Amino acid sequence: MQTQTETIKLRDGTRIPWIGFGTGTALSRKDCTETTKLALTRGFSHFDTAQSYKNEEYLGAALEGVPRSQLYITTKLMKFDWAGGQTVEDTLRVSLKKLKTDFVDLFLIHVPIDHIDKPGQLKDVWKQMCDVKKKGLTRSIGVSNFNVRYLKEILADGLEVPVVNQIEFHPFIYNGSKALLDFHAEHGIVTESYGGLSPIIPKRQGDEAEIPAREKLMKVLDKFAASRSTAAQEVSQNQMLLKWLQYTGTIAVTTSSKESRIDEYLATGSLPDFTPEELSEFNAAIEGVHFRCFKVFDYMDE
Ligand SMILES: NC(=O)c1ccc[n+]([C@@H]2O[C@H](COP(=O)([O-])OP(=O)(O)OC[C@H]3O[C@@H](n4cnc5c(N)ncnc54)[C@H](OP(=O)(O)O)[C@@H]3O)[C@@H](O)[C@H]2O)c1
Repeated sequence: MQTQTETIKLRDGTRIPWIGFGTGTALSRKDCTETTKLALTRGFSHFDTAQSYKNEEYLGAALEGVPRSQLYITTKLMKFDWAGGQTVEDTLRVSLKKLKTDFVDLFLIHVPIDHIDKPGQLKDVWKQMCDVKKKGLTRSIGVSNFNVRYLKEILADGLEVPVVNQIEFHPFIYNGSKALLDFHAEHGIVTESYGGLSPIIPKRQGDEAEIPAREKLMKVLDKFAASRSTAAQEVSQNQMLLKWLQYTGTIAVTTSSKESRIDEYLATGSLPDFTPEELSEFNAAIEGVHFRCFKVFDYMDE
């Protein structure tokens, strides 16, 4: 069990553990108490949830009693009754109650297209995000599933810049995300990844067109993993995908129901970094590939 997780500094001066445990996807709308407790006892301190996952109260129950200073908690804003007068603060206060905390470390707009029914709505929602931060209900604010167009829209009024953009991010989507990644770099927005293990998850794999790319990448991951394996510790393809995220300065949000994988994820931080030669080999293996697994966010490719 690893207790010390490396952190990444965000543009508002706060720090975030580079790897986080998510309660979405496989755990969404489920009682995640036991799985989250397992992640906590194995060494995770960074937890990622969302209002739409409908399990904030289970995460709150799992984390109860742990000193708040030892935790990093993210939740995300879902679609709310903006036209009817409901506010971002109203929704966040409900989340805080469920999470049994006075503040979250990071609050994200989950999906921009949930807030574009009326002109100016998205900008107003971002202004309200800035206001809840000023009130101390969250330490940092950021976004998720924002493409360059939506980022430009919320930045237009000179308000605070989001500290992170949480997006589907893995080697198969890297080449097609260059414009967004350049925009992040220009504005000091850290890329936060979900779906980072997608290239090796069978049910997320694409059609036959993706098979050669997948095979090429798997060979490279195997080679890099073997070169880091010892008699005492076998390194996996999963770990090499997470290592690539860490190497590229990306925050990795992942999840698992299995203790062995949770331990493996946490052990990734201490594995040797990619060498420049390995990076070239890795980049050659993914050249020309662009494959999105979370099709619901296809607008990200506009
Ligand atoms: N902002 C957003 O819109 C958004 C969208 C999606 C996710 N998220 C966040 O990101 C978190 C992680 O998302 P994710 O599930 O996409 O992460 P991921 O790291 O890509 O995948 C983790 C999942 O992969 C499975 N897995 C791991 N290694 C595997 C292997 N070798 N073969 C087959 N399955 C394997 C795990 O299942 P086992 O239980 O079997 O280990 C686990 O369910 C979510 O919980 C959520 O908090 C955010």
